[in-house]
Amino acid sequence: MPLKMPFLILIFLHIHAVLAPDPEPLHDFCLPSTGHSSTFLPCKNSSLAKVEDFIFSGIKGPGKFKAGFSAIPVTSTAFPGLNTLGMSFVRADLDPGGINVPHFHPRATETAFVLDGKVYSGFVDSQNRVFAKVIEKGEVMVFPKGLVHFQMNVGKSRATILGSFNSQNPGSVKLPSAVFGSGIEGAVLEKAFGLNSKEIGKMRKRYGPQ
Ligand SMILES: *[C@@H]1O[C@H](CO)[C@@H](O)[C@H](O)[C@H]1NC(C)=O
Repeated sequence: MPLKMPFLILIFLHIHAVLAPDPEPLHDFCLPSTGHSSTFLPCKNSSLAKVEDFIFSGIKGPGKFKAGFSAIPVTSTAFPGLNTLGMSFVRADLDPGGINVPHFHPRATETAFVLDGKVYSGFVDSQNRVFAKVIEKGEVMVFPKGLVHFQMNVGKSRATILGSFNSQNPGSVKLPSAVFGSGIEGAVLEKAFGLNSKEIGKMRKRYGPQ
């Protein structure tokens, strides 16, 4: 019994940390003192700030493509000027037929603005309802926080998307690699998906760490 209380407090703190939104900033901005941000670095003296600290130039073009998809996530790690401001963004590019695999962001809602192309775009709610449609250049879809979502380029040319997040560190959990590439015991996967060990082996090879 005496052990229970601290345990419950720990659970509460954990739940609180997981559910809490990014904190309200206490300063106009907080450039991390060591240049690159992690979650809790102190701010450097604000009189040292320059305009360049608030400009990010790394998404003028697409990132490296892999299987027809490229993404440049811009969190406060890549762009320290975002530190404590509760936002971040991503540039994603898809070749024709390319997909952004089903994934979710545990700490952020996303708005995905199609800068170019035609994208079949959707999410799944907690009742397994799919909300999906082809959207095109100039349209925006919102992916509610924590819900699984996906995109596929259904046009004839490359598609480009700007995703914006209401967290400086939204996190991204990709379902194929979280399930088959994480080292979950094979027996669990066999039962969960009704596959045999050979089929599970094939999925593991495909989605495992590379
Ligand atoms: C910040 O830098 C300015 C200019 O160099 C200096 O006058 C000020 O004392 C510094 N503030 C702190 C809190 O170190």
